[in-house]
Order: sequence, then C-alpha cells, then structure tokens
Amino acid sequence: MKILVINGPNLNLLGLREPEIYGTATYDELCRAIREHARRLGVTVDIYQSNHEGDLVNQIQAAYGQVDGLILNPAAYTHTSIALLDALQAVQIPAVEVHLSDVNSREPFRRVSYIRPACLATIAGHGIHGYLEAMDLLVRREEQA
Ligand code: DQA
Repeated sequence: MKILVINGPNLNLLGLREPEIYGTATYDELCRAIREHARRLGVTVDIYQSNHEGDLVNQIQAAYGQVDGLILNPAAYTHTSIALLDALQAVQIPAVEVHLSDVNSREPFRRVSYIRPACLATIAGHGIHGYLEAMDLLVRREEQA
C-alpha cells in the first residue's frame, strides 16, 4: 500500500510557529514520526509540503493511479480552496483530512472545511499523532476492502 501525505502552507515552520497551538515538534520531526509509523505498518509513504495552492492541486492530480490513500493537511487552504476539493473529487482517492489543532474550537472561519466532503474522515486536535491515526484508518480500510 502506498500513502501520500500532503501538507499545506506554513507547516514547514512547525516548531517555530505558534507552539502553544501547533506544538514544539519541528516539521522534520513530524516527517520522521510519519516514516517510522509507515515502517511499523509495512506501507510506503511519501510526504509533500508546499506553500502554493496550485502545487497542492498538482500533487493530488499526479497521485491518480499512483497511490492508495491520501492524508491531507491543507492548512489555511482548508478554509478557502474549492480547487483542492475539485481535485480530490476528480481523482477519487480515499483521503483523510488532518489538522494538528482543534480547528472546531478556534476562530469561526477555521470551522469551515472545503475539502471535508471529499474525505473519509477528519482528525483534528491530536497533534502529530493525528497523522498516524489517519494512516491507521487508511490501512484498516484497505484490509477490509
Ligand atoms: C491547521 C489549522 C489551519 O486552520 C491553519 O491555517 C493551519 C494549520 C492545523 O493543522 O491545525 O495552518 O491546518
């Protein structure tokens, strides 16, 4: 099984960025935790990050026929991007939405997710562990298929 993790803008600044909200782990530490969990699960994982909406769309399009599951934290584009929703609906790859913080208990604009309708589940507020839970979910789903 192959999983692609796609991270949006400013997630490269993890550790530095509002640690009281996003935690003190760096982006490298997030990537390491994802890779270690992939090894434990026996799945292949690729991790991509961009600050540009079009690059995220390109990655989703390029994943068509190449990966079995997507994990997306589109960061601020979660709350604005119809383009990401359209890309997910086009490729129809099983996808899980992840947010480090509990977006539902923050500003009202963060409660809106344009990508949610195209995702199997949303995991928010579990920090880095949320990505690992998303991997577990995709693997379980594949085993049940
Ligand atoms: C985020 C939540 C978003 O509202 C925010 O714009 C981010 C990160 C999270 O992981 O908690 O950049 O997606």
